[in-house]
Amino acid sequence: MSPTILVETPRPGVRLLTISRPERKNALDRATYRALGDALDAAAIDDGVRVVVVTGAGGDFTSGNDLSDFRDIAETGEPSAGLTFLGRLVGFPKPVIAAVEGVAVGIGTTMLLHFDLAYAGAGAKFRLPFVPLGLCPEGGSSLLLARVAGSKLARELLMLGEPFGPETAREAGLINAVAAPGTALAAALERAEALAGLSHAAMAATKRLMGTASTEEVRAAMAREAETFHALRRGPEAQAAFTAFFQRRAAPPSPS
Ligand code: COA
Repeated sequence: MSPTILVETPRPGVRLLTISRPERKNALDRATYRALGDALDAAAIDDGVRVVVVTGAGGDFTSGNDLSDFRDIAETGEPSAGLTFLGRLVGFPKPVIAAVEGVAVGIGTTMLLHFDLAYAGAGAKFRLPFVPLGLCPEGGSSLLLARVAGSKLARELLMLGEPFGPETAREAGLINAVAAPGTALAAALERAEALAGLSHAAMAATKRLMGTASTEEVRAAMAREAETFHALRRGPEAQAAFTAFFQRRAAPPSPS
């Protein structure tokens, strides 16, 4: 198993996956996306696993896509690692719960739209900084965020790209509840244990039925977003923003 994804079984039937690159605020590079997806696939076919909980190490959920991967504009012809991971999450057949502390940026926020349940500590900080980085929404958020948050709030969060706290995340439908600081994982594990004790067949059927109407629509939105995102990511504004981040300065203003 990858050193950046820790796999544990803290309660019967509950698989805990911890994103562990704390020195990068748990940024998701290609290897970490792959390892997280592989861990999901392993949980999907393991009859002993009823529920999966995903969290981050060191007091943060994830700072999103590793920006050094975004700087790489070489054409590999391969689908993006983030998109491949989200495809595996969207198709995951068992309940999956997020436990968020600290930062949840970019895909760290949009992936919450694909979890069944999510809990965040009171100190959590969310952000969808796509436009400030010269990018556009990804992860199905252009479709799903308006659906769960309402159009005005979704546009505010996606167009301005400003940081927001857990109360706004709850209002936007990204999380179920705000837990006391440092207790999001305890809240998620408590809910996971309750889910794991229920009928496996009924749970699987419920998840399948709740996804039936929207899964294809979500995959289509993700593919549309990916095409535009990919083009913007390679463009001069986004590349300047990535370089500015690593040089610790504000992104240059857009020339247009
Ligand atoms: N990709 C690559 N490295 C990242 C990263 C990312 N997404 N997020 C953080 N890091 C690195 C930083 O470069 C820093 O490395 P260094 O110690 O070698 O300088 C280290 O992780 C710690 O981050 P730092 O910025 O010092 O922490 P902070 O608490 O001041 O801020 C964030 C945390 C998440 C708010 C800030 O790091 C950030 O905005 N990161 C970028 C998030 C982003 O834009 N994600 C992609 C969205 S599409």
